[in-house]
Amino acid sequence: MSEQVTRSDWDQWWRHAVIYQVYPRSFNDANGDGIGDVRGIIERLDYLKSLSLDAIWISPHYPSPQADTGYDVADYHDVNPDYGTLADFDELIKGAHERGMKVLIDLVPNHSSDQHEWFQAALAAGPESKERDRYMFRYSEDGAPNNWGSIFGGPAWSPVEPLTGKEEDRNWWYLHLFAPEQPDFNWQNPEVHDFFRDYLRFWLDRGIDGFRVDVAHGLVKAEGLPDDAIGPDRWTVTDQEITEEGPAWDQDGVHDIYREWRSVLDEYGRDRVLVAEAWVGDPKRLADYVREDEMSQAFNFEYLEAGWRPGKMREVIDSTMAENARVGAPVTWVLSNHDVVRHPSRFGFEPGYDTDSGIGFDDPQPDLEIGMKRGKAMSLFTFGLPGSAYLYQGEELGLPEVTDLPDEARQDPTWLRTNHKARGRDGCRVPLPWKADPADTGFGENPWLPQPDYWASYAAETQEDDPDSFLNFYRRMIALRGERDLGSGSFEWIEGAAGDDVLVARNGDTVLVINMGEDEAQLSGLGSVLIASGDVVEANGTVSVPANTAVWLG
Ligand code: NOJ
Ligand code: CA
Repeated sequence: MSEQVTRSDWDQWWRHAVIYQVYPRSFNDANGDGIGDVRGIIERLDYLKSLSLDAIWISPHYPSPQADTGYDVADYHDVNPDYGTLADFDELIKGAHERGMKVLIDLVPNHSSDQHEWFQAALAAGPESKERDRYMFRYSEDGAPNNWGSIFGGPAWSPVEPLTGKEEDRNWWYLHLFAPEQPDFNWQNPEVHDFFRDYLRFWLDRGIDGFRVDVAHGLVKAEGLPDDAIGPDRWTVTDQEITEEGPAWDQDGVHDIYREWRSVLDEYGRDRVLVAEAWVGDPKRLADYVREDEMSQAFNFEYLEAGWRPGKMREVIDSTMAENARVGAPVTWVLSNHDVVRHPSRFGFEPGYDTDSGIGFDDPQPDLEIGMKRGKAMSLFTFGLPGSAYLYQGEELGLPEVTDLPDEARQDPTWLRTNHKARGRDGCRVPLPWKADPADTGFGENPWLPQPDYWASYAAETQEDDPDSFLNFYRRMIALRGERDLGSGSFEWIEGAAGDDVLVARNGDTVLVINMGEDEAQLSGLGSVLIASGDVVEANGTVSVPANTAVWLG
């Protein structure tokens, strides 16, 4: 293994942090209009604090036409009027800080909204203007300039002429790796660099502690924009749907941008964080994003995708830990977010079953009895690992994916752009149930995505006082992780304690066990039960761990 780098001069809160993702549209609605808002988050700060969190990360809160639920930013320096005002946001930052929680926001630098003033100015200014040079406009008489497909389906290029109605725009195209309403910036243009440096300072000056960087592997495209191996319709190519490889992705040039941003953050102190959302499969290349002069963390999506496969999990844990150690960065664990099927539902399918395109009412349905057990076990094992851990809102309530959303309610652009081939991500974005009243769980009568009837049974209110609820299990788990310092701990496998399907590891003086096999496992002499995801039995120094169950011993 390569020599380990240490970052001894860094203030290191983020190295072992537990960070909660707030998806503002669906978190909590203070005024009952069916849309989550900033005051709604403020109202729940004590709830968040009760989970022993170090920080919250808030998905995009900016003015946006919502073509991609806020990832189409129309103004980087303000708050979406549906969510509140800048003054509300300042109050949120202050309230979180008073409770000892940091605040990260979502930085969306690959593309803006087509309604952003720069894109509107670019359309107005005409071909080859300096305004157009801030985006990726290209001339091509022979159809789109290359064969790239949009991640949401369909081509990644749209013609300009229909937008301006001007003859001079004939055969001009603009690039959008995502929806047509999300034109890609041109990161070769120094004005784009200046703009985002100013953006960082604007929010750092307001007290923000860091940024989750959207599509961190996409900003720089290969010279000459060559064709890729997938072609424009990635959703018809089996198993290649979310492949983000090729000339649009993970180009070496992105690292210069993160070095530039690191030095801006450092003006505010070494404890401000940058978190990479980079779907980069090779752990070595992913670790490059968290080199000392770049970002702090990068989500370990390989782990998220390992599924209920013990061999694969072991391999991913080993390789990501080794690669991150090489650059002196912690591994960042994540099981759920707003882009993937919620993990209890993912684990309700056969290992290896692909849920990337989402789940609809007429698709095979997860077995939730097994999925909930496996999901809870996986959470417990994951939160025992050293490094930082993210949880996605509602995960602490044990929410499954909503798989029976009416198709006409769907909002994810993927559903339309794939001609109804991929259902998309709405099923993990349904507003949270706070109250046990099925007519109004806290988003009024018309939540922006409909909540299923059974949603009220997961209500935070009901779980609050039940010591055996999922919520109180999560609270105990995260608090115990803090007490035992697991986030900044160490890691080694304990070999031969049980069969191959049972992963057993030591983090300091805590032993982590997850039984991914079919039979009960007996573990002797490794300590007594600290917390368990299911019914474990302890007698005479032996702990019996049923299938689909995890436990911490110490
Ligand atoms: C990744 C975000 O997590 C996702 O929700 C969004 O659609 C794309 N980036 C485009 O911004
Ligand atoms: Ca509202």
